[in-house]
Amino acid sequence: MNIGTPLSPSATRVMLLGAGELGKEVIIALQRLGVEVTAVDRYDDAPGHQVAHHTQCINMTDGNVLSRLIDSEKPHIVVPEIEAIATETLMQLEKEGICTVIPTARAANMTMNREGIRRLAAETLKLPTSPYAFADSFEQLRQSVEGANGLGYPCVIKPVMSSSGKGQTKVDRAADLHAAWDYAIAAGRVNKGRVIVEGFIDFDYEITLLTVRAKGANGKVEAHFCAPIGHIQVKGDYVESWQPQPMSATALDKAQAIAQAVTDDLGGLGLFGVECFVKGEQVWFSEVSPRPHDTGMVTMISQRQSEFELHARAILGLPVDTSLRNPGASAVIYGGVEGKGVRFEGVDAALAVPGTDIRLFGKPLSFELRRMGVALAEGADIAQARSRAKEAAGKVKPVI
Ligand SMILES: Nc1ncnc2c1ncn2[C@@H]1O[C@H](COP(=O)(O)OP(=O)(O)OP(=O)(O)O)[C@@H](O)[C@H]1O
Ligand SMILES: [Mg+2]
Repeated sequence: MNIGTPLSPSATRVMLLGAGELGKEVIIALQRLGVEVTAVDRYDDAPGHQVAHHTQCINMTDGNVLSRLIDSEKPHIVVPEIEAIATETLMQLEKEGICTVIPTARAANMTMNREGIRRLAAETLKLPTSPYAFADSFEQLRQSVEGANGLGYPCVIKPVMSSSGKGQTKVDRAADLHAAWDYAIAAGRVNKGRVIVEGFIDFDYEITLLTVRAKGANGKVEAHFCAPIGHIQVKGDYVESWQPQPMSATALDKAQAIAQAVTDDLGGLGLFGVECFVKGEQVWFSEVSPRPHDTGMVTMISQRQSEFELHARAILGLPVDTSLRNPGASAVIYGGVEGKGVRFEGVDAALAVPGTDIRLFGKPLSFELRRMGVALAEGADIAQARSRAKEAAGKVKPVI
């Protein structure tokens, strides 16, 4: 793989579809390798727009608009960084040889819908998952939960298309089922009206196993595993993560076998976030992102190469190093206030906590539960790293 010179005819051109905080870091990693980057998002001045050569603001779920943009910009590589994209259009463009899609257009398509990836994992690959059913009406949902051989309570209801916990509810009793259905239907992104219901897994802990499909020295594509990342989710959104998550050798083997099977099937080049639940030595596959994962932001302080650098290298066909440097942790900094152009007080105090670093994403608009930044910390062990990251995050106060 030769890399050209940005803004010249030899340029290696990459287009990021989605330019939030994760896309921003991928762009920075690509910039460092001399790649010419176009950042696309649906609103102006998105975090990734602020560090790219070119910016575009379009509705990426509109296939015609997306295909016109790719036709006119002619990127060599298209990198989906969010789920809400017209992935069928990407499949068509890939088939016509117009661009390479990371990791593959099919992978982007399969994973944007919970039904696609769940059926692949459980029914085709026969991986252990929570028991599940799909429903298109409340009556169907009720049958799946309360009928003979139903999933029972507690269970988790999710729109088939949503992310970051949107529209998701854990339901403990029959009286709460209808409210969960209403919430899922209202929050579903596209394909409104279809939900997945999953049996609740009473796990000891959950992990993200970052897995990179990259070319090795022999030119063959191989899966490389990062150390497992532990995390805490509140209402389906991550608040804290750390690496490495201690695991028994058996559980780690099982998680790696799951990640290997899923990423082998999805194929292509790039980094994946494979989410698993663990109880004792039992491991369940939950879902997978064919791109860097929010809980993986910790790797910016814990690994030799962050998940963003790994993704950038892998998609360019370059070798990767997934080794851990030191235990680390991340803690989310929320908006807290609503409004445009917030200022962040206390960054100095946060960075005075030993072993810490910070990322402020530069989002133009803040709201209470919006992720506006992240505190990172290294430590002698996970406990120290976690307490430092939380302390630093707590010192940063967005104000209007
Ligand atoms: N079947 C289940 N049993 C127990 N907990 C669950 C189950 N499904 C989801 N959860 C909890 O909810 C979290 C979010 O679920 P999931 O990853 O499916 O949603 P998501 O909207 O894709 O979230 P994100 O985009 O943040 O990854 C999980 O990480 C887990 O903590
Ligand atoms: Mg998830």
